[in-house]
Amino acid sequence: MTTGTDWQAWHRPYADENSALSRRLRLVREHIGRWLDDRPDERLTVVSACAGQGHDLIGVLAARDDAPRVRATLLEYDPGNVAAARAAAEEAGLAGVTVVRADAGRLVSYVGAVPADLVLMAGVFGNISDDDVRRTIRALPQLCAMNATVIWTRTRRAPDLTPAVRRWFREAGFVAEAFHAPDDVLFSVGVHRFVGPPRPLDEAGDLFTFIV
Ligand SMILES: C[S@@+](CC[C@H](N)C(=O)[O-])C[C@H]1O[C@@H](n2cnc3c(N)ncnc32)[C@H](O)[C@@H]1O
Repeated sequence: MTTGTDWQAWHRPYADENSALSRRLRLVREHIGRWLDDRPDERLTVVSACAGQGHDLIGVLAARDDAPRVRATLLEYDPGNVAAARAAAEEAGLAGVTVVRADAGRLVSYVGAVPADLVLMAGVFGNISDDDVRRTIRALPQLCAMNATVIWTRTRRAPDLTPAVRRWFREAGFVAEAFHAPDDVLFSVGVHRFVGPPRPLDEAGDLFTFIV
């Protein structure tokens, strides 16, 4: 299950704070921080699908005193990105962050990591088929604890799928909390909260296959 993309090189624009990717990252981090602030004193669980080098979650936790109350599992397939994320978590002293080399498109990879209070789907929906986006959203209640938050991203390159994405979230038991779609870039960042009943994990199930 590999694609032709160099997923380590994909991260390079993060080095430029003016890049669109860095702008997207700031929005994702802002919402992770807000989610932590909204749930003070709770022990919280995070799962990040296709976590890459973990810039979003690790970046936030590294700057917070309350990071020890978070247990996080980062699922990433590229070995170089797994190593980079592990090194970043270690450097930041984040003992509660585990980086697992696994196929995040298979539900079995989430055993032991869910139900999660925060599910990160950053850089996923733009790299899979529309059918897989829909399948993944429908399956999110298997990853979510009660009242969980999902932060997701998706390009708005035509044809813009984000109206359908937001509808699929509604149909799957989520309410919209935020949607950022800046005029001068194609990315979008969405935040949805799960208000439906969690569902047991179907370990034999599939979510998506990367096509990019
Ligand atoms: C677009 S990048 C997003 C990285 C990170 N979430 C971010 O926003 O910075 C997609 C990441 O997914 C990883 N990936 C691709 N297919 C995967 C799979 N089936 N399971 C886990 N990770 C995968 C790639 O190696 C890459 O690091």
